[in-house]
Amino acid sequence: MKYETVRWRKNNVELIDQRILPAEMKYVRCRHARDVELAIRTMKVRGAPAIGITGAYGVYLGIRNSRAKDFKSFEKDIKKTIKYLGASRPTARNLFWALERMHEVARINKERSVFSIKRLMLAEAHAVLAEDRKICRAIGKHGSALIEKGSSILTHCNAGGLATADYGTALGVIFAAKAKIRKVYVDETRPRLQGARLTAWELIKAKVPAVLICDNMAASLMAKGQVGAVIVGADRIACNGDTANKIGTYSLAIAAKYHNIPFYVASPISTFDMSISSGDQIPIEKRCESEVKKVNGKYITVKDIKAENPAFDVTPGKLITGIITEKGVVKNPNKRRIKKILNKCS
Ligand code: MRU
Repeated sequence: MKYETVRWRKNNVELIDQRILPAEMKYVRCRHARDVELAIRTMKVRGAPAIGITGAYGVYLGIRNSRAKDFKSFEKDIKKTIKYLGASRPTARNLFWALERMHEVARINKERSVFSIKRLMLAEAHAVLAEDRKICRAIGKHGSALIEKGSSILTHCNAGGLATADYGTALGVIFAAKAKIRKVYVDETRPRLQGARLTAWELIKAKVPAVLICDNMAASLMAKGQVGAVIVGADRIACNGDTANKIGTYSLAIAAKYHNIPFYVASPISTFDMSISSGDQIPIEKRCESEVKKVNGKYITVKDIKAENPAFDVTPGKLITGIITEKGVVKNPNKRRIKKILNKCS
């Protein structure tokens, strides 16, 4: 891909400001953990893996000026930073996975000097980013094998290079299978329009034949036989396969099941949360009413009406044909099959 969603430049983290795409392509610089927290909360950066990578750098930015002389007080600073960053957005498992990974690298090196632990933590954040690139390519390869020649794919939200280090998960499958794909339907994805603004931008840039649709058009296209498969990303997957993803995903899965259309989730292993048994335990972020009531800063409704704005919903595992991971595909996901793939060596 020709753009770097998250990059390390001049000892700071830089992010494509996704709030202003596709009109403008600009980077914002984060020098402190507080810049990172704000960027995640306000969705300058978004998408589960990209949030995780940014969070990993955020931990480093939060501790790099720590004056701690011994591990005990240094760890206090680490924990404080992790708690602070973890409060930015609650749903994406990848954020917490990356924060825990940063803590772990410090813990296993606690005998070293604070100076050298800081260096190892920066190296770990670089590794999280570099690994994500490889993971997305592997997801693309495994997913591509599932796509039939001449098929039309429907996707929701943005699970592309902008949501990861590079290439994407759901879009990674689409990019890898590009030669076989006739058309990609892109749900606009109200209220933040990640489909219309970001997925459309990525697909057109990559010369993939993409067609934008309003979210409420999907079922009718399925009924007409125009959708061969649905592929979406994930924010958190419970150990029974229940999957949180962008609001609207659940209704797509129901419609796909009704019309006998395969429904795939493309996601790295770091999105699985084996500590929760089912989707009802996934914390669902509630965002502010104004995202629903306003478009481009202008009210599209009466000011006094109340609005709901859950950012994600949960699709039951039994509606999912397969979860495409970097280690392979979990067909008809359940706890046993998910455990098996997690334990598989890469
Ligand atoms: O609110 P967002 O834009 O962060 O939501 C993003 C999604 O729901 C994606 O589908 C998910 O994070 C997977 S990204 C590879």
